[in-house]
Amino acid sequence: MNPYVNMGVGALLGTVFVLMSVSIASEGIFHSEAPEKEGFAIVAAEGAAEGGEEAAGAGEAAVTPIATLLASADAGAGEAVFKKCQACHSGEKGGPNKVGPDLWDIVNRPVGAHEGFSYSAGMKTFAEGGKVWDFDHLNHFLMAPKKYVAGTAMGFAGLKKDDERANLIAYLRTLSDNPAPLPSPSAEGAAATPPAAAEGAAPAAPAQ
Ligand code: HEC
Repeated sequence: MNPYVNMGVGALLGTVFVLMSVSIASEGIFHSEAPEKEGFAIVAAEGAAEGGEEAAGAGEAAVTPIATLLASADAGAGEAVFKKCQACHSGEKGGPNKVGPDLWDIVNRPVGAHEGFSYSAGMKTFAEGGKVWDFDHLNHFLMAPKKYVAGTAMGFAGLKKDDERANLIAYLRTLSDNPAPLPSPSAEGAAATPPAAAEGAAPAAPAQ
């Protein structure tokens, strides 16, 4: 064997050894500080909240409240928008799961719960706490799926146009034997603040 190669390999191994020692040592140092991990969790939570319901303030400004949008939405026009989804989703009652799960009765359906569909870890995490696809979650998710549900397997860029998204959500609502009541703009303001309320089961009877 060429001695230069040997030297090169030796040098490489030496470097790897040093790097490993350093990384093991630094891990040891950081491990002793428990907050290292928590710091991560907090960062992630903040990221999620940015697209989530908590940040009703500045970060949230981009997404118009769904109740306002739905007030002037046209489900008929939304049916055409749904064509974009049909590459991956069926919308019929008892329809098959395709690339994505069947979307019949999606409004107020528990997140990540369609029978026979294998959801991503990201979607399963998002589902925690018994979340359902209420109008608000759908609005945020369909605006920017990957931003709202980190790690989702849904390969869809999102519908940025408010009217298009609203029409689509109005159409999704019709994919049910019992379409969910439309949210009233005033009720939404109240429901959006405490996430628990927003995530509760079907937003019961509208305020008016
Ligand atoms: C390229 C394929 C693709 C397209 C296009 C697509 N989706 Fe999806 N969708 C998926 C996949 C895959 C999942 C499962 C995501 C996961 O497990 O993270 C999903 C999940 C969902 C969910 C959550 C369902 C549940 O049971 O929790 C909803 C709601 C949804 N999609 C709506 C839509 C709508 C509305 C459109 C059209 C605007 C659309 N999707 C377009 C692939 C797609």
